[in-house]
Parts: sequence; structure tokens; C-alpha cells
Amino acid sequence: MKKLVLASQKGGVGKTTLALHLAVAAHQAGAGPVVMVDVDPQGSLALTWNQRQAEFPAMARTTIAELEHTLHDLEAEGFKLVVIDTPPAITATISSVLALADLVVVPTRPSPIDLASVGGTLDLLEQSGNRPFFFVINAAKPHTRLSQQAIAALALHGRVATTIYDRVDFPTAMIDGRTAGEIDPDGKAAIEIAGLWTILAERLGKQGGS
Ligand SMILES: Nc1ncnc2c1ncn2[C@@H]1O[C@H](COP(=O)(O)OP(=O)(O)OP(=O)(O)O)[C@@H](O)[C@H]1O
Ligand SMILES: [Mg+2]
Repeated sequence: MKKLVLASQKGGVGKTTLALHLAVAAHQAGAGPVVMVDVDPQGSLALTWNQRQAEFPAMARTTIAELEHTLHDLEAEGFKLVVIDTPPAITATISSVLALADLVVVPTRPSPIDLASVGGTLDLLEQSGNRPFFFVINAAKPHTRLSQQAIAALALHGRVATTIYDRVDFPTAMIDGRTAGEIDPDGKAAIEIAGLWTILAERLGKQGGS
């Protein structure tokens, strides 16, 4: 079972939004069964999932203390991918979650303040044994230079997978637990997320293992 973790020290960058969207995209791409795990005490992903009608991706309840045990059980149940959403913090407990990851996604908004906080997340990744990670520029405004500047700044520290634009379809869809792609499968949001999943799937596939 592959473990994909969304993490960033900075709040409100799109961890939860991308966790749901990537889990659904992975399910649709045939990478399932997919299960999501929310270790954020805010519980936003779990609350969103409660609104969903669809059975998959599944949602598993756990705590950071029990996470390793829960992941073991989920793998035994036959899940092929777990997508883990984390709270915005730099603590030893988050570091313990990152240490379990096959791949980490670090969403970052393209603003100077967000970019300045990336160092904390990078430190956390280092403490967690340098797990493979991708930056994702999230909620970028079209036709602005900020995204290009952000890509250049982040590329000094790691690979930037892609840019996801600021689209009202993302929060609108999540009102009833769906994704932008489930509402408009041919929309730009769906295409961006499918493209991101393809990049992540390729990276996860290269790592071998189960
Ligand atoms: N690409 C996007 N386009 C438009 N709105 C977005 C996008 N990504 C996220 N948002 C909105 O930004 C806000 C923060 O997103 P989200 O809750 O996913 O971030 P988070 O990193 O999980 O936050 P926290 O650190 O509090 O857990 C939400 O209102 C969400 O709907
Ligand atoms: Mg969140």
C-alpha cells in the first residue's frame, strides 16, 4: 500500500482540498481501493467525507499515535493507496507521519509569505528522513507573474510537480463532499488534478515495493 501525505507548516494552502481531489482522482484512475486518513484535529477532511454519497475513496479514523497500526490494518484489508491529510504545524508528531510516507506533497500558495514559510516544512522533511516530495503551487491566479516566481524559488529546494489554479469549483464541489472533477469531469480543475495524479503515480510506481 502506497502512502501519500499532504503536508505544510503553513495553514490554508490546500492540503485538505488536494487530499480529497487526489484520492478521488487516484480512485478514478484505477489506483484503488483508496482510503483517506485525517490526522488533523480540525477534522476537515473527515467532515467533508461525511457529506459524500460515494463509497470510495473510503475514510479511516485514527490518531497520530495509532497511525502506524491503522496503516498496517488498512494494508491487510487490501487498500492500495492511502492519502493522509495533516494539520498545519511543525512538530515531532507530524514528523513521525512524514517518516511513514512513500511520497509527500507540499502545497504552496504563490505568495511571498507562503514561500517564506517553506523552510519550516523542508526542515520537517529533513527530520523525517528526507522522504521524496513534490511541491505543488496551489490556488495560483491566472495571468500573474507570482506563479512563475514561485516555481523558480521553490525549484531551488525541490521539484515542483505542477500548478493548480485558483478555481471556485474546488470549494464549491466540496460543500457536499464531492470534487471539482465529479461535478464537471471535463473542467479545467479536473484536468489539472488528473495531471497532478499522473505525476505522483509515476513517482510512486518507480519506488517499487507494495
Ligand atoms: N485551487 C484552489 N482554488 C480555490 N480555492 C482553493 C484552492 N485550494 C484551496 N482552496 C480554498 O482555500 C481554503 C484552504 O484550503 P484547505 O482547507 O484545503 O487548506 P489546508 O492547507 O488544508 O488548511 P489547514 O492548514 O487549515 O488544514 C479553503 O477555503 C479551500 O476551499
Ligand atoms: Mg486542512
